[in-house]
Amino acid sequence: MEKWRAADRLLKFSSRFASGTKLTCTIINYDHTHPLVSECCFFPIPFYCCKSKQGKYFYSVATTVHRNPLFSIISPDDISYFKTLLGERGVVQDALALDAANTDWMGKYRGSSKLLLQPKNTEEVSQILKYCNSRCLAVVPQGGNTGLVGGSVPVFDEVIINVGLMRNILSFDKVIVSGVLVCEAGCILENLISFLDDEGFIMPLDLGAKGSCQIGGNVSTNAGGLRLLRYGSLHGSVLGLEAVLANGTVLDMLGTLRKDNTGYDLKHLFIGSEGSLGIVTKVSILTPPKLSSVNIAFLACEDYTSCQKLLLEAKKKLGGILSAFEFLDSDAMSLVSSTTFLGTENHGQEVIKDKHGQDFTSIDLRALPLEFWYSYASGSIFMENLEAFLLHSVESGLVANGVLAQDINQASSFWHIREGLPEALMKAGAVYKYDLSLPLEKMYDLVEEMRVQIGPAAKVVAYGHLGDGNLHLNISAPAYDDNILAKIEPFVYEWTSKNRGSISAEHGLGLMKAAKIHYSKSPETVQVMASIKKLLDPNGILNPYKVLPSSLLSQN
Ligand code: FAD
Ligand code: MLT
Ligand code: ZN
Repeated sequence: MEKWRAADRLLKFSSRFASGTKLTCTIINYDHTHPLVSECCFFPIPFYCCKSKQGKYFYSVATTVHRNPLFSIISPDDISYFKTLLGERGVVQDALALDAANTDWMGKYRGSSKLLLQPKNTEEVSQILKYCNSRCLAVVPQGGNTGLVGGSVPVFDEVIINVGLMRNILSFDKVIVSGVLVCEAGCILENLISFLDDEGFIMPLDLGAKGSCQIGGNVSTNAGGLRLLRYGSLHGSVLGLEAVLANGTVLDMLGTLRKDNTGYDLKHLFIGSEGSLGIVTKVSILTPPKLSSVNIAFLACEDYTSCQKLLLEAKKKLGGILSAFEFLDSDAMSLVSSTTFLGTENHGQEVIKDKHGQDFTSIDLRALPLEFWYSYASGSIFMENLEAFLLHSVESGLVANGVLAQDINQASSFWHIREGLPEALMKAGAVYKYDLSLPLEKMYDLVEEMRVQIGPAAKVVAYGHLGDGNLHLNISAPAYDDNILAKIEPFVYEWTSKNRGSISAEHGLGLMKAAKIHYSKSPETVQVMASIKKLLDPNGILNPYKVLPSSLLSQN
């Protein structure tokens, strides 16, 4: 009972509101046959899943893209060259491995590359690109292949280059400029998180794909994730980079300084350019010290407006210590409850249960996990502050119900619910995924309008990084269907553009949205981007068909 103390207290606070609140309860599915998300994640994607789901959807995208006839087709001489350069291990032609590397995490996008290269160091990356450029062989840089916009897999027969063997931590300075980590681009994010944990530091970014994604992939997508609210984007925490250009030139920008205003800060071009300007080979990143305690609350609000007001209150009252403010709506909650095992060994059956034995997770309200981190106050003092804030939020009607994690297991259970959503959507069938930045007050209007627009043909599931103004809008259907797609697009892009939002908050443009960039960027801006691409990659071999409209790049 002790570990639910705070939860009980909070429920007590809310009891007098509960009578006037419509709570629709359903039973949580504690189906123990569902594996924990953390165990069933990411790789490899079962082939049947790719085959059954992707075909039609990929076809819809592929109709608008044609193979650039200027690109060469790989020859036996090319293979011999790469074997001499990289050795047998670095040249992968095995059908199963190629199948996984040709297919994206969602099983939506699929290429037909016959070659995967695995360099061991920057010099090898440089030699590969120099050769490909001279032969006009198109390439796709690939990291953990967890990208969600079709950017990490070939469209046609591009050569896949994965720096996963380049996974050394090169240095960690916790004395001079506290917390600067320098590592190779192939390091898996979760391994960096563990390494830093032992050193008393944390990565400034965290995301559900941490077990597979590489830091080079994170940098190349400018990944946001669950900590951006507190630690900012990678444009702030990445201090330096090493990147290899299409012609093999190595750009050493691997600074570790906090301040350096000597000329143009070119590293920023590579942060978020999705492998279209160069291959990132090394990263220097500023990591914050580990905090002495983490507190997480999982709260239910009656509607989106209350959620939004709660965020503003939390920013006002807890701004300095707030590290994440996520939200999921009731459709998201029921989806994750029905497809994911939410229990943990330590809690017996239920993850979130109040003192009356009622499942908190089954309350049909907008729900959001809210995480607080603090480093300066003692646990009890902080807990009192937090409880005071929550009490006030309950009394003012912003929070209808909720629980506070009492230990690390409960905390990770809450995150398990939030991080389980992408996987839950995959299990539910086909998913049309949109990643939008929108003004907070408008954000949920889009979700509701989309429900009207789609009708009963599909479910609209919304969640996201509310604290960053980032909505993940997912349309979940039993199978891909062009009639559903026609109801979503261009509606979703036009709506976003009209409300001055961004059609890609954190996932990038990839193949999915390369031709849609004009919804968020002016023609002049896109033209400058195309000029930069042509300057750095005149033959266009790096990740072709992605990020920018192909029509623009083929112009002279
Ligand atoms: P990949 O998917 O392999 O590649 C992504 C892009 O980067 C491609 O365009 C590729 O060409 C390029 N690239 C990869 N490595 C390099 C390199 N070394 N040099 C140059 N270009 C390179 N994203 C978020 O922003 N926030 C989230 O919270 C988040 N959560 C996720 C949760 C799940 C379950 C999944 C599956 C994905 C999630 N993502 C999220 C998307 C994805 O994980 C991130 O974009 C991640 O940063 C991609 O890293 P990766 O190593 O898998 O790159
Ligand atoms: C997330 O926040 O969970 C990720 O960006 C993945 C997704 O949008 O599904
Ligand atoms: Zn996200």
